[in-house]
Amino acid sequence: MERKTDLTRLLFSISSLADLGQEVSSAKDVEEKMRSALYVVTGMFSVPRAALLAYTPRRRCMEVLAGKGVDAAPDIRLCVDAVHLKSFPMNELVACDDLAGSPLYERNREAFRRLGTKTFVPLFAKNECVGALSLGKRLSRNAYLRSEKDALKAAAHQLAITLQNARLFLKLSEKVAENKRLYENMRQIYLDTIQAFAAAIDFKDDYTKNHSLRVATYAAAVAGDLGWQEKDIEAIYIAGLLHDIGKIVIDSGIINKRDELTTRERDVIRTHPQVSYSILSKIRFPWKNVVQFIRHHHERIDGGGYPDSLSEGELSEGAKILNLADAFDAMVTDRPYRDRLTLEEAFREIRRCRGTQFDGRISDVFCDLLRKEMDGDVMQARILPQLRKIGALQLEPAGTLYEA
Ligand SMILES: [Fe+2]
Repeated sequence: MERKTDLTRLLFSISSLADLGQEVSSAKDVEEKMRSALYVVTGMFSVPRAALLAYTPRRRCMEVLAGKGVDAAPDIRLCVDAVHLKSFPMNELVACDDLAGSPLYERNREAFRRLGTKTFVPLFAKNECVGALSLGKRLSRNAYLRSEKDALKAAAHQLAITLQNARLFLKLSEKVAENKRLYENMRQIYLDTIQAFAAAIDFKDDYTKNHSLRVATYAAAVAGDLGWQEKDIEAIYIAGLLHDIGKIVIDSGIINKRDELTTRERDVIRTHPQVSYSILSKIRFPWKNVVQFIRHHHERIDGGGYPDSLSEGELSEGAKILNLADAFDAMVTDRPYRDRLTLEEAFREIRRCRGTQFDGRISDVFCDLLRKEMDGDVMQARILPQLRKIGALQLEPAGTLYEA
């Protein structure tokens, strides 16, 4: 009879350990996983009150990660020194009477009382303390049989490994989050530096204050409307900010000349996309195609542009967008040699050059987008605020932009 009871108990322990294995290897989050594991263990030994504590070496304490019957006291904490840890047997139970005399108990008397600890099992994985299991009074009997101690040791070992994995995962997640934060900081510094460059480029030209910023904004708005990916939109924005960097080497006298340019002066100005390309091609941008967009921002789809006289099929969508954004900003701002066009006139000019200088689809997307912004049909207007800043909206009733 006794043998039969022992066998039943053994089978129960084995099946419980199998349940525990399933719980700790499930895809649940660590707290839920540990709560389920704790319920399996308390079921194994008929303990209604128990807690699983996780050890944090940095804070030298153990805190309740999962509890049963101790939920009302989530703030329970055991202060644990390295010296206390050395006196612990690894993954083996320590009975209440043995615990009572230890420095650990004396230091945490109140916490043990609140936990209702009758049996304490320090959890170790690879000789490293990762937490502890506190078990309250048993419903069935007080003393643990040898076979139960063995089963508890096996369960403790599983819990310890699970806790250690959770700790490693947390460390890794923290590292990933920190790297992400560092990358974001670096990216912001990079963007700020490029914006400062753009301001320096525009500063040289009396008439083009913030031109680069506006071109970048218009180009990014069109790319967004065309469904470009976030990273590619950022690339064209950067290209917009830097497209005229080559003008830095051109004499201000030529750039700001009020009279008509001579052929030689025009040729000098026309070198700037190539110079921009030469300066920037040495930089390893974290975005694709930035330098190509910049090199080709004065190309036309009929092949009449510069510096490479590329035509429609040879030009990237980015270069075509940048070309239109640049030309549009030039139209609606004053230049040394002419006054700016009204918005209506600029629209007419875009329509006139559609299919020769500008790509037809991109012209349509740009004009539609601006109309939608003027009609309030977009979540966030991007072109309109820039036009408002340069006073390009005052004469324009939106309706005039709809004419064919
Ligand atoms: Fe340019």
